[in-house]
Amino acid sequence: MNNHLVWARAHTNIALVKYWGKLDSQLIIPQNSSLSLTLDHFYTDTGVKFDATLSIDQLWIDGNQVPMEQKVKDCLDAVRSLAGFHQAAIVKSYNHVPNSAGLASSASAFAALATAACKAANLVLNGKQLSRIARRGSGSATRSIFGGFVEWHGGNSDLTSYAEVVADPVELDIEMITVILSRKPKKISSRDAMQSSVETSPYYPAWRNQAHLDLIEMKRAINTNDFKTIGHIAETNAMRMHALTLSADPSFTYLNADSLAVIELVRSLRMNGIDCYFTMDAGPNVKIICQQLNESIIITHLQQLFADENIVVCKPGPGVKIINDPR
Ligand code: PMV
Repeated sequence: MNNHLVWARAHTNIALVKYWGKLDSQLIIPQNSSLSLTLDHFYTDTGVKFDATLSIDQLWIDGNQVPMEQKVKDCLDAVRSLAGFHQAAIVKSYNHVPNSAGLASSASAFAALATAACKAANLVLNGKQLSRIARRGSGSATRSIFGGFVEWHGGNSDLTSYAEVVADPVELDIEMITVILSRKPKKISSRDAMQSSVETSPYYPAWRNQAHLDLIEMKRAINTNDFKTIGHIAETNAMRMHALTLSADPSFTYLNADSLAVIELVRSLRMNGIDCYFTMDAGPNVKIICQQLNESIIITHLQQLFADENIVVCKPGPGVKIINDPR
């Protein structure tokens, strides 16, 4: 066993065809397959050490010890069971992502955790196997094992639910301008929101069918470097996902007034010939999908509404890697 913490760095990803709803909430098997772009700007560094002298697992986030989270334990247990030992672990994680505000901090966090924990346990796994372990912490983390465009094959079991690269490196000129509208943790977790959508939205079966078709069209668009179609499908897919929370009982939404202002801006820029699209996850922040030639004009418009530090340009990012101690 390693004497020091083993560290891994994973980047966030934003889904262009979203995952929304679980078939199996313990193993995190999704109702539909999904596809994302890994981003370069936001990431998590996580260090893990298994230690026979520890009696229980310890979790430190951004320098503070916090109570162990069940999902972290689920990931560690998956690694321990593969490695065939029971030692407790110390886990230290530093997030370079605004937490829980629809910026997928759990994606980078669990991808980094799975990779560091497997290496610390001397397991030699490929990306597909790592993605199945990351999935035990959070669904979107399955995709953050890889860089570029990534598909999460939903599957129907632990073995068949894993991620795979669609295109990395990304040749297409594509970026996402993240507009940070809130840094507060969301009030309703994606887990609860998905469950309520599956159980109470009459539109849920239609979502599953449409997401399946969106994924096929999205892969075709990526293979032909068709930016307009990628943006168009991503935008409609995101709004159809948000329609599930609006049509749940009780109904709720992650959009706030600022989200709507950004959406209106994107629509009006597009009417004026600037090719851009929006997507949103389980939080109010909006990501604008665009190309480099339009980046500065979009930013100029955003600066009239929001402070500079809340406007972050992200490009396609890399897959997970083992790093030296970042502290
Ligand atoms: O993996 P979770 O529990 O963070 O859920 C992610 C859900 C969305 O971000 C809204 C969609 C997605 O596919 O990433």
